[in-house]
Amino acid sequence: MLKVAMLGSGFIADFYTMSLHGQRSRDRVHVVYGRSEDKLQAFCKRWNVAKYTTNMEEAISDPEVNIVVISLPNNLHLESVRLCAKHKKAVLCTKPLARTAAEAKEMLDLVEKVGIMGGYLEDLVYTPKSLKAVESVKNGAIGRVLWARSRETHPGPHSDWFWNKETAGGGAIIDLGCHCIEIARNYIGKDVKPVEVMCWADTLVKPIEAEDHAIGLVKYENGSIGQFEVSWAFRGGLDLRDEVAGTEGTIWNNHFLRTGFEMFTTGNKEGYVAEKAESTSGWLFPVGDEVNELGYNHMFTDMFEAFEQGRQPIESFYDGYVVNAVMDACYRSAQSRQWEPVQLDVWRGNTDGSTKGPAVTEYNEQYYLIKEEITPNGQKKTILKDKKTGEIIQRVEEGLVK
Ligand SMILES: NC(=O)c1ccc[n+]([C@@H]2O[C@H](COP(=O)([O-])OP(=O)(O)OC[C@H]3O[C@@H](n4cnc5c(N)ncnc54)[C@H](O)[C@@H]3O)[C@@H](O)[C@H]2O)c1
Repeated sequence: MLKVAMLGSGFIADFYTMSLHGQRSRDRVHVVYGRSEDKLQAFCKRWNVAKYTTNMEEAISDPEVNIVVISLPNNLHLESVRLCAKHKKAVLCTKPLARTAAEAKEMLDLVEKVGIMGGYLEDLVYTPKSLKAVESVKNGAIGRVLWARSRETHPGPHSDWFWNKETAGGGAIIDLGCHCIEIARNYIGKDVKPVEVMCWADTLVKPIEAEDHAIGLVKYENGSIGQFEVSWAFRGGLDLRDEVAGTEGTIWNNHFLRTGFEMFTTGNKEGYVAEKAESTSGWLFPVGDEVNELGYNHMFTDMFEAFEQGRQPIESFYDGYVVNAVMDACYRSAQSRQWEPVQLDVWRGNTDGSTKGPAVTEYNEQYYLIKEEITPNGQKKTILKDKKTGEIIQRVEEGLVK
């Protein structure tokens, strides 16, 4: 049984605790830290938690606590990790790891210097669909990944601090782009270096300093592209979709809004539908088991097993740092309107820059194969490139297909 100190008692602390205390779990939140006694008491009652405190250090240093979970606003992540390092407590931090790569690097250095586990709670990499899809990609099911696109859009976050550029560290990129960037990175390969970024970001709807919309392209050293699309002003719920294109196949994943569960109600009884749902009547798209479908269960299982086995979890502070470095480049690119390099002071993946350029398929001694197709009139068309001259020709075989 592991005992958790939960820092924060807000939205994500509730979801994490729902997952941690879910089913017949033996792990427990032992103590919760927050600012307001009323809210902490309500949290303890809701989740049957024994202790609360308004002193962060007291929660972290509690002798019974094995693992600290950071569920606080982004500007408090670094301060929390400093205290975890001081008291040598394993720490799991929600996304984004930090507001900037510099903050994230300090957090990474702190856990590594003291030798405590630093897990990055990037739940969307752990959804049952993502785990299966990434495994298929690793097994070669879709060949070489060329393009991994991830979209997260919703009508905007639920607390004041997200909308403040200083406390959050940015807008929709820092809040939602962090998920999409890490999802794409998992498909393309975490050992492949993200090298440069082109990003558009704008404030189209909300009266805030930070961006409420952005689209970014993250170019990887092997030529693959990660693409993210984020919005804080999308109407209709929480849209979470991934598309992965490879030389031998394709994956489409819809995680939340249209998962196959559809319900109509006149709305005579109001109730919770799903995160960020905008309506409680008409056609609704509920989610069967949110904590499972959003990856929290598999994420905590990996984190706790990693802790017990003394290994790294799938998502570590290092991954969070890479994501922050990509987001820093996004903000620079949105300003400069140019491709901006991703500045990674620490790179632990491949350094050979391998597999750049198009894949070449032999056809015969003279030609490379570009494409084969059966046309609607039953002809087989083969498009070929002459190896020496570079000329591109097509061969049509009549009547081969009936
Ligand atoms: N899918 C996800 O992984 C996911 C989803 C939502 C939020 N998050 C992350 O979780 C973190 C918290 O977000 P949230 O949605 O729970 O926010 P929230 O506003 O619902 O809760 C924040 C908590 O921190 C406390 N808090 C706020 N300011 C504080 C301060 N100055 N000192 C001490 N405590 C303070 C609040 O009282 C509350 O308990 C953020 O980093 C956010 O990005 C992750």
